[in-house]
Amino acid sequence: MSLAEKYPKEIEKILAKYPPEHKRSAVMPLLYLAQREEGYVDRHAMRDIAALVDMTETEVASIIGFYTLYHDKPEGKLRIQVCADLPCALRGADQFLSDLCAKLGIEPGGTTADGLITVEPVMCLAACDKAPMFQTQGPDGIKYHENMTVETTIDLIEELKKAK
Ligand code: FES
Repeated sequence: MSLAEKYPKEIEKILAKYPPEHKRSAVMPLLYLAQREEGYVDRHAMRDIAALVDMTETEVASIIGFYTLYHDKPEGKLRIQVCADLPCALRGADQFLSDLCAKLGIEPGGTTADGLITVEPVMCLAACDKAPMFQTQGPDGIKYHENMTVETTIDLIEELKKAK
């Protein structure tokens, strides 16, 4: 089923926000829509979006590749994106990232065996004085978590598992 068949109303609403000559600008919300259920944008959705906004599939793929919020392959249902940029690293983010991954039995960038959690380092998330910090990205959208420890992160993961 194409994206347009799956989400006709949402797509109409998104496209209506942009004048026809600027419909390329709708690419970001369309990617977000396509990614909402499965956590990534597959090739079919990329092709559909390209057709909807008059871009090439390669241009759409390059946007997915550029932004850490978009993904082109299935990984964990919940993504923990730890800022490991320099200011956060100075507040222990590197150690936090490696301790958290060790606790979950994965490497940074990896996904737990049950397919639930992916942990990956990302660049500055604009909360540099609150490290270790990360954003979670999942079915409930994007949320920030600041001044975290491995213990509080594991508690958070357990709470999210229970909520499902
Ligand atoms: S460097 Fe980590 S939030 Fe800015």
